[in-house]
Amino acid sequence: MSEPIAFLDLAAQQARIAPALRARLETVLSHCQFVLGPEVRALEQRLADYCAAAHCVGVSSGTDALQIAMMAEGIGRGDAVFLPAFTYTATAEVPLLLGATPVFVDVDPRTFQIDAEALRARIVAVRRAGRLRPRAIIGVDLFGQPAPWPALRAIAAEAGLFLLDDCAQSFGASLSGRRLGREADATAISFFPSKPLGGYGDGGALLTDDADRAALYRSLRTHGEGETRYEVIRTGVNGRLDTLQAAVLLAKLDVFDEELVLRERIARAYDAGLAECAVVPARVADSDSAWAVYSVLLADAHARDAAQMRLRAAGVPSAIYYPRPLHDQPAYRDHHDGSPLPVSENLSTRILALPIHPDLDEASVARVIAAFAQ
Ligand SMILES: Cc1ncc(COP(=O)(O)O)c(C=O)c1O
Repeated sequence: MSEPIAFLDLAAQQARIAPALRARLETVLSHCQFVLGPEVRALEQRLADYCAAAHCVGVSSGTDALQIAMMAEGIGRGDAVFLPAFTYTATAEVPLLLGATPVFVDVDPRTFQIDAEALRARIVAVRRAGRLRPRAIIGVDLFGQPAPWPALRAIAAEAGLFLLDDCAQSFGASLSGRRLGREADATAISFFPSKPLGGYGDGGALLTDDADRAALYRSLRTHGEGETRYEVIRTGVNGRLDTLQAAVLLAKLDVFDEELVLRERIARAYDAGLAECAVVPARVADSDSAWAVYSVLLADAHARDAAQMRLRAAGVPSAIYYPRPLHDQPAYRDHHDGSPLPVSENLSTRILALPIHPDLDEASVARVIAAFAQ
């Protein structure tokens, strides 16, 4: 059998950018400002410019970005936070940590993004039940594609809710020709190594056009500090971004646009090669994906098991995002009101992610397709 294919190939990417990367790391090693150093400020400016957002605040992870954004709104006990059931755990964990209640919403069966009509109905139902106060919506840009932002903005405005973009997976994607980062009141990004723009450890950022929010985020990420370092004016967290991570991300940003093109090329090859044997991912209208994940749908769990076995035998890794929707996770079950979320449940039995990364060459893509179609 030929060499196994990598699901993610950070070593190949590192070899591609080695000189620039090492030069940036050397600079940090020589100035020794390891936390919130000059590279963090440079990265914040580059990210804000890239997304045409007014402010960017680097933080220690995508999860901290979500938490800081919600802390800044004072979200807590008695508040309902609406979010998709089909997403990564961090989206639901943050409202719970702050004492709020996640309200799980079903997703669109074709794009896997939150279903705006279902969201509208959930908000009405929560208001009617009168136990929780609707406070916020977290739209998740799942797998690299944008959530239905125009509809989410209209719903948030009508209902008077804070709108947060969980863009952890989708930095670099765009909707109607503009980069994600300005679709909601604030946008949270993750730099976890497997993300389209990934560091060599944990990292994240918040984007916003609101100067007051940005100032609050800066204070909250450093223990709620005020004008001076030892003035504490609110309860905050240690949510600072390491300078070495910023240095890595600056080097990766230089090749990021080329990598997005390569990811798109692979997605198109998969679309063409797999459409006969699986449901290939539907594109969100008028958008460009960052292709963090390329997931197909099989007929059922048995067909998925068989596909994974065929792929494994051919040295092709695959992954399941997500094998269980959040409302059915032991940690969250007791916080769910029992509403049926059939699409999320169905997707978790049928979905399968294939390798997609900028260093996956044409021959490997052909191998994935051939193994899948066998
Ligand atoms: C949708 C989503 N939200 C939030 C996060 C959390 O990001 P981090 O791992 O940087 O804390 C992730 C990371 O996997 C994610 O996929």
